[in-house]
Amino acid sequence: MKHISLISMAVLLVGTSTLLALDVATLNQRANKGFTPVVVKDWKAPDESTIPNNLFGDTVRYGKALVHETYKYIGPEVEDPKMRYAGNNLACSSCHQEAGTKRWSAPFMATFANFPQYRNRDETIGSIEERVNGCMGRSMNGKPLPENGKEMRAIVTYMYWLGQGIPLGATVEGAEFPQVNRKMVMSQAADPIKGEQVYKEHCASCHGENGEGVKREGKANGYEFPPLWGKDTYNTGAGMYRVLRAADWIVANMPLGADNHNRILTDEQAYNVAAYINNYDKPRDVKANREKDFPDLKVKVPDSDVGPYDDGKTRHQHKFGPYKGIIIPAK
Ligand code: HEC
Ligand code: HEC
Repeated sequence: MKHISLISMAVLLVGTSTLLALDVATLNQRANKGFTPVVVKDWKAPDESTIPNNLFGDTVRYGKALVHETYKYIGPEVEDPKMRYAGNNLACSSCHQEAGTKRWSAPFMATFANFPQYRNRDETIGSIEERVNGCMGRSMNGKPLPENGKEMRAIVTYMYWLGQGIPLGATVEGAEFPQVNRKMVMSQAADPIKGEQVYKEHCASCHGENGEGVKREGKANGYEFPPLWGKDTYNTGAGMYRVLRAADWIVANMPLGADNHNRILTDEQAYNVAAYINNYDKPRDVKANREKDFPDLKVKVPDSDVGPYDDGKTRHQHKFGPYKGIIIPAK
């Protein structure tokens, strides 16, 4: 008797657990602010010369410098050890290109208008400062900036300045990520072996055979071409470490010179090369406690390579796809 009830319980559990894949409709519902956002098209970066020549303007300029040449002010090689907040010599601009003004490259013009916001990583409402520190701890492999310190205030002030004229909660075209073909990722796994060919052909000339990049001369001077794996780049907690996230960004922004409307790679090449640079054999620092991220499995990102999962799929399939059964698309 006992035996049978255990089996039926197991069946019941498996039966319900298949529902706990990323449910896009639920995610959209939770992020819904309760009004229809204004849509802003054709955003252009405000002219630098309109930054006022006063203390406020100085703060905007310092914020921009921090974003664009992060390594110079808060990188691991700066003179004052207390200022070494970032753990690598990247800049925010390494990914948020052109100081966060390049559309479809995770830009910052809509950021100020869209925080605080719902965060599925911890099922709370997160502030803009917490979001900046999310990238500090993961993409920059460092420690958090004090929320009321000069640097954090300057970064947020720069984002405010960049987003002038954008209504609260607005959707700005080019602020969201472009997406590699979701039909393709549902049915096909990313292939790191094919990705290696893409890498050799389209990436290694700048980022190096071993992903090490090209460093500039001198201390705290950052990279001409930033590293993609190894000690001095993003850790395993970063968005760029996730294959889908990376593919979405790469397809619209790499090789350097590409943009969303002048793409160089196909969706498939971007997907495969994202798998290659983020494969397990590529060394990079490990972000601890990632199993605590995304406590509600119904809205957990699909491409995390750390469980728990409750959709019956392996870690390997979460990392590389195919994503059928892992993502439930919105109808
Ligand atoms: C290695 C790449 C990388 C670097 C370096 C990086 N970020 Fe990010 N950042 C991302 C990605 C990818 C996202 C969006 C995807 C996500 O949520 O996972 C993001 C999102 C953000 C967001 C949310 C924007 C919005 O409007 O929702 C903020 C704010 C942010 N980053 C700030 C920073 C700051 C400030 C720095 C430098 C101190 C930085 N990031 C460095 C990759 C990076
Ligand atoms: C012509 C040189 C060049 C080529 C070729 C190139 N990149 Fe980049 N890449 C850059 C530069 C420069 C940046 C920093 C962003 C900027 O300055 O706009 C960057 C940034 C990146 C980043 C984010 C920062 C980091 O260090 O992780 C990733 C990921 C990336 N490139 C991947 C690729 C991939 C994949 C390819 C091949 C498909 C590629 N790149 C080809 C120059 C290049």
